[in-house]
Amino acid sequence: MRGFISFISLLLATRVCSYVVTYNNTCEIYPESLHHDGKDIDDAPSILQAFDICGKDGNVIFTNHTFNVNSVLNTTNLVNCDVSLQGELKFSTNITYWRENVFSVIYQNQSTAWLFGGENVTLRGEGGWINGNGQTWYTWNKNKGNQFGRPISITFFNSTNLLADGLTILQPQFWATLVWQSQNVSLTNFFVNATSDDEWDTTNTDGYDSWRSDNLRIENATITNGDDCIAAKGNTTNLLVRNVTCHGSAGITVGSIGQYPDWPDYVQNVTFDNVHCLGCADGAYIKTWQGVPTDHDSNGDSGGGGGGLVKNVTFSNFDLEHVGLPIQISQCIYSESDSKNCNTSKLQIEDVSWVNFTGTSRYNIAASLYCSDEVPCPGIKFDNVSIQSVNETLGLPLWNTTLQDEVYQCTNLVGQNSSGIPCNHVAPNNYSQTVRENVK
Ligand SMILES: *[C@@H]1O[C@H](CO)[C@@H](O)[C@H](O)[C@H]1NC(C)=O
Ligand SMILES: *[C@@H]1O[C@H](CO)[C@@H](O)[C@H](O)[C@H]1NC(C)=O
Ligand SMILES: *[C@@H]1O[C@H](CO)[C@@H](O)[C@H](O)[C@H]1NC(C)=O
Ligand SMILES: *[C@@H]1O[C@H](CO)[C@@H](O)[C@H](O)[C@H]1NC(C)=O
Ligand SMILES: *[C@@H]1O[C@H](CO)[C@@H](O)[C@H](O)[C@H]1NC(C)=O
Ligand SMILES: *[C@@H]1O[C@H](CO)[C@@H](O)[C@H](O)[C@H]1NC(C)=O
Ligand SMILES: *[C@@H]1O[C@H](CO)[C@@H](O)[C@H](O)[C@H]1NC(C)=O
Ligand SMILES: *[C@@H]1O[C@H](CO)[C@@H](O)[C@H](O)[C@H]1NC(C)=O
Ligand SMILES: *[C@@H]1O[C@H](CO)[C@@H](O)[C@H](O)[C@H]1NC(C)=O
Ligand SMILES: *[C@@H]1O[C@H](CO)[C@@H](O)[C@H](O)[C@H]1NC(C)=O
Ligand SMILES: *[C@@H]1O[C@H](CO)[C@@H](O)[C@H](O)[C@H]1NC(C)=O
Ligand SMILES: *[C@@H]1O[C@H](CO)[C@@H](O)[C@H](O)[C@H]1NC(C)=O
Repeated sequence: MRGFISFISLLLATRVCSYVVTYNNTCEIYPESLHHDGKDIDDAPSILQAFDICGKDGNVIFTNHTFNVNSVLNTTNLVNCDVSLQGELKFSTNITYWRENVFSVIYQNQSTAWLFGGENVTLRGEGGWINGNGQTWYTWNKNKGNQFGRPISITFFNSTNLLADGLTILQPQFWATLVWQSQNVSLTNFFVNATSDDEWDTTNTDGYDSWRSDNLRIENATITNGDDCIAAKGNTTNLLVRNVTCHGSAGITVGSIGQYPDWPDYVQNVTFDNVHCLGCADGAYIKTWQGVPTDHDSNGDSGGGGGGLVKNVTFSNFDLEHVGLPIQISQCIYSESDSKNCNTSKLQIEDVSWVNFTGTSRYNIAASLYCSDEVPCPGIKFDNVSIQSVNETLGLPLWNTTLQDEVYQCTNLVGQNSSGIPCNHVAPNNYSQTVRENVK
């Protein structure tokens, strides 16, 4: 292992004479490049060493330098540890290396470059950031979905009482974050920007996903990406999301769920409040798989037939600008184009409210609410939802359609007449999550 540890005074420490400098229970990390003429020598061994020494009842400081992360990081089982990110953590772009060495996160056969967590842990972005160097991945990915071994930038795993404050993730390789098997995890003042500079999209660059986790919070986030801004996946409970701006993303969602018959998904007590969605493909929606398993060969995209329950979800105070499909329930998110089995899901959805929505839709549709024939949805409500098509706000007609009024599609909503939803069309059972034209 590289890195030389010196138990010396702060005075000496400030001379930057080693890679991990420790004093009391604090470990300061310096990059190898400082001693090797700027060469991008892997700093992961020094980082792991710092967490070994100071991960229990200690502090770890990434000093204000650029760190080369050329190999995987497993910094889990921390206890009472405060981490300060003052420099840039730059992940390498050796796709061959990463695909062979990433850690599995089990879910959908996905993987991560960094497993992070423990009990009573803070991670503060004090001027520093994570640079996933994602452009290489976007270009390599060529718009495919869920390619094996394309890693999540950082996964908060097996954690209790974890706060990540001021975390910035630029150009995530894949999903920026995942919270997995954890409770009491908060992300505050969180910033993600995945932007491609070539013809390939930033597919699968979700900002925040949660799975098998309870008591979660996100407050103050700005996320620019090409996939879900925030996604509450299976067994996410008691999640509060507040004050989030999503740019160009696929919006705020519960799902996808219902993929695995062996793992029913329970998502309960979720509030998304005060969300601004600009140019998003979707706004506020719930997406489940169909009830009959299907095989797609691309990783992560086969499944269906999973049960469970979505209950007590509130989307409130949304401001939408130019959003493709502002509001949706789909129970066949990956088989819609086949027009198959969309009415077969057994995953029950109930007590979901959309409250105080304003803004514009890209087309003539505000909402498509399709609940499966197997499990019609009770307790679906709108309160003060007011969405206009962009064209209507400009006084222009909507193209290629006779429907000049905003469309609200509804199917299998129990108590539709008292739902507050101005249903004016039947929701077809094969409506896509990606809308590209006006409803005719
Ligand atoms: C280490 O802790 C001791 C005792 O609390 C303190 O006197 C000393 O200043 C600390 N050293 C540094 C470098 O902070
Ligand atoms: C990560 O490190 C912990 C020790 O802290 C170990 O128990 C665990 O197996 C490691 N995880 C992986 C995926 O290697
Ligand atoms: C990339 O990683 C592979 C597998 O670890 C390794 O064999 C190869 O030498 C690396 N390439 C570069 C340019 O470092
Ligand atoms: C975590 O913090 C809580 C509250 O301060 C404390 O009661 C608990 O003992 C800490 N956990 C560990 C493993 O030290
Ligand atoms: C980090 O160093 C850069 C110059 O290398 C400086 O501009 C920046 O203000 C420093 N950040 C902090 C938090 O000190
Ligand atoms: C998860 O954390 C607990 C302590 O809370 C620890 O005992 C257990 O080994 C950790 N599991 C893994 C896989 O790291
Ligand atoms: C995201 O990055 C792109 C490219 O660097 C930049 O044009 C854009 O302004 C950034 N977005 C935000 C919200 O900072
Ligand atoms: C919302 O979050 C943004 C950062 O994403 C912050 O600049 C803004 O002040 C926050 N607004 C409120 C009301 O907290
Ligand atoms: C959110 O941002 C506002 C405005 O900057 C700030 O007052 C508030 O403390 C932030 N919330 C959190 C949890 O940091
Ligand atoms: C969710 O929790 C239930 C038990 O409450 C369990 O049966 C199910 O397998 C879990 N699902 C997932 C996705 O972990
Ligand atoms: C949902 O919230 C209620 C009220 O706080 C609580 O009683 C219930 O246990 C929560 N449900 C879950 C699944 O956590
Ligand atoms: C619904 O969830 C919210 C948190 O999102 C919670 O405050 C409320 O008590 C829950 N209601 C029920 C009936 O469980």
